[in-house]
Parts: sequence; structure tokens; C-alpha cells
Amino acid sequence: MTQPAPQPPPQHVAIIMDGNGRWAKARGLPRLEGHRRGVETVRTVVDTARELGIRYLTLYAFSAENWKRPSEEISGLMGLLDFFLKRELNNLIKEKVRLHTIGRIDALPANVQRELARVKEATQHFTEWNLVLALNYGAQQEAADAARAYATAVQEGRENPDDVSWERFSQYFATAGMPTPELLIRTSGELRLSNFLMLQLAYAELVFTPTLWPDFGRADFVAAVEEFHRRERRFGSTSEQLPSGPR
Ligand code: FPP
Repeated sequence: MTQPAPQPPPQHVAIIMDGNGRWAKARGLPRLEGHRRGVETVRTVVDTARELGIRYLTLYAFSAENWKRPSEEISGLMGLLDFFLKRELNNLIKEKVRLHTIGRIDALPANVQRELARVKEATQHFTEWNLVLALNYGAQQEAADAARAYATAVQEGRENPDDVSWERFSQYFATAGMPTPELLIRTSGELRLSNFLMLQLAYAELVFTPTLWPDFGRADFVAAVEEFHRRERRFGSTSEQLPSGPR
């Protein structure tokens, strides 16, 4: 009997990393300890993404709404980002991973902006593997920024509103030029999108796992991708219309 052809991996996986606080609380540790352990999970998922052939990995590291958290937690998270970027610079170069960001990074502390610029510049020529950090990111804010840039383009005669389409308008989004995420994973059992990539996820498969982010390992990532492969992706067609036929 012939084996079915192996299915190609999703090109782009987006992850809402959730549950660091609960992980720490369950152990009587400060919340920041959960975030610290979460940084180690980031390293694991970057490795696993490359192993699985996933070209784009987008991680929701700090939302536009996370500024509401206690100031010590915010500065702790910014410190971890700075630490991560310094630690990973050489690894990302060695592994040929390009760093991108989405979100309003000009509101981040100057030292974090500096590290981001340094790592992005040092990795900008890589094309195969891409790590996208969503920082001070919100899908609604991104849509407002896109609308503003589009309106300016109309005023300057570079765009004609009669031609507007999602394909054209999405070029003003922070994710312009990236493939659309095909799989969204959210850890910790919460069933929400929390203002993450809401238009880009229109046809993504959503996988929710109860595992808390610091405990999310290679096997959990592989299981989420296997779940993705079990889904029938119809994009509005019927099962019968699919080249593979109904399941
Ligand atoms: C959600 O857990 C997690 C965050 C808001 C931050 C995620 C940040 C990291 C994993 C570390 C820094 C990232 C990088 C890329 C270096 P939560 O605090 O909301 O957990 P809870 O819902 O259990 O309280």
C-alpha cells in the first residue's frame, strides 16, 4: 500500500503565549518568574518551527493593552525582551532567522528599540526563516494605522478608492509581504483572539491548548501542527469541491 504524501507544514504559525502568570502562581513564585520561563519556551518554539519547516512564526509578546499591567511587571517584561534580544542575536544569525516586528514599537523603552534595530539589521538578509515579534501590537490599532496610511496615499494620488480590495488594503498592514497565518495556537485554555491579527486570521485554523506557556514544549507544538493537518480547510467551498474530495 502506498503511503499518503506527507502534507506540507503551515507556512506561518501565530501563537498567543498565555499562562505565564498562572504557571508562577501555582508554584508560589512571582509572575515575572513565569515570564522568565516563558522566554525559554520561545527558544524551544523557534527551534521546533525550523525543524518542522514553518517559515514564519509570529509570537504575541506584548499587546497594546498590556500597558495596563502593574509597572513592575511591564519593566520586568521589557527587561526580559532586552535580555532575549542580546542572548539570541548570535543564535539567530547562526540559524539564519530574520527578526521582524509588528506593532507600535516607537513606544517601547529606548534600550529595547535599540536592541530590536540591531537584531533586525543583523538578520535582514535572511529569507528562509522568519521570527515576528508582536510588540505593543493590537489588531484594531493596526487597522487604524493602515487606514491613516491609505488615506494619505489617496490624498497624494497614489491610491484610487474605487480600486480598494483586501489584497490592496492589506499592503498597509504591518504584516504586508508575509504569508497569511494558517494556524493560530493559544495556550492556557483561554478561548479568545485578544486583538491579535484579527483580519489576517480570517481563514486560520485555531488550536487552543490548556497547557500553560512555560510548559509548552516541542511535543505540544508538534501536536498542534498534527491537529492542523487533520482539519478540512474549505475556504468557503464544499467538501466535495476540494481536490482531495470529502473526508
Ligand atoms: C501572557 O501570560 C504572556 C504575556 C503577556 C507576555 C509573554 C511574554 C513572554 C513569553 C516573555 C517575553 C517574550 C519574548 C519574546 C522574549 P499572562 O501573564 O497573561 O499569564 P496569566 O494569564 O496566567 O496571568
